[in-house]
Amino acid sequence: MSNKRPDDMKRITTPELAEAFIEEQIAAIREQVKDGKVLLALSGGVDSSVVAALLIRAIGGNLVCVHVNHGLLRKGEPEQVIKVFREELGANLVYVDAVDRFLDKLAGVADPEKKRKIIGKEFIDVFAEEAKKLDGIRFLGQGTIYPDILESGPVKSHHNVGGLPEELNFELVEPVKFLYKDEVRVVGKALGLPDSMVYRQPFPGPGLGVRCVGAITRDRLEAVRESDAILREEFAAAGLQGKVWQYFTVVPDFKSTGITDGLRTYDWPVVIRAVNTVDAVTAEVAEIDFSLMKKIVARITSEVKGVNRVLWDITPKPSGTIEWE
Ligand code: XMP
Repeated sequence: MSNKRPDDMKRITTPELAEAFIEEQIAAIREQVKDGKVLLALSGGVDSSVVAALLIRAIGGNLVCVHVNHGLLRKGEPEQVIKVFREELGANLVYVDAVDRFLDKLAGVADPEKKRKIIGKEFIDVFAEEAKKLDGIRFLGQGTIYPDILESGPVKSHHNVGGLPEELNFELVEPVKFLYKDEVRVVGKALGLPDSMVYRQPFPGPGLGVRCVGAITRDRLEAVRESDAILREEFAAAGLQGKVWQYFTVVPDFKSTGITDGLRTYDWPVVIRAVNTVDAVTAEVAEIDFSLMKKIVARITSEVKGVNRVLWDITPKPSGTIEWE
């Protein structure tokens, strides 16, 4: 099949156009897979979620979704995937708790690129092991979108680790491969997915793993997860969700002294980064109301265990990348 978006394809900008696209894709998926089974790695990100929802409509129980919890997801994400896909949409969902396995493999590894490689390889291994346990799979669903094709060739690699291994060498089903991100969101909305899934900010494949600087430890990882949840909650309450391009917290691997209730502490800092960009190649720091910044600092220092200080990163890209690793 061609990898070029048809010249006459309309941009999907309205619910009506999304409905028409959904109907077309349901027919195309049925035609392609007939009564075959499709396997899909469902991260809970926009692209894989939209593909899952389309496939559920098209083939129901012949779709098998695998959600791998590698322990580096944001607070509430695995629960949301289970609630939306298993409970509300009735998906055939295999949930794999691989938290210990990932954290054991990552223990003591400080180099950012080594961390990425381990996370990517482990993800593929876990997914391939699940695929092996299932009988009769002939197709692999993929949340490839058009920018993935334009930028990096036909197969979207999970967590940036190149091609797929032999045991995952199934025929691909890629129903959103000609869509741009904004169109995927319009389709997701029309499919009834929650706003928190459809409009979520970009989240790197290695997840919180690259925001827990250096060798990942469970205490700092929890501090990243909890502080990120507070930041997202406060940004959402202030109406900034979907307005600021990307915002997150980082926990470095050094401590500083502080004082709480008259007692000296020696704890981790949390770094906050909030940026706006068009293409992630360059980025500007988002200007946030100072009273909101102070409120977030107060919440993080009082609610997050092991944290006594908050730093706000106001470095543009360049010279800083968006992520800290
Ligand atoms: P940087 O840090 O390079 O980030 O300025 C640019 C955008 O890419 C995201 N990012 C990643 N996404 N795997 C991903 O899937 C990665 O390893 C990765 N590293 C960075 C980052 O969140 C930002 O949106």
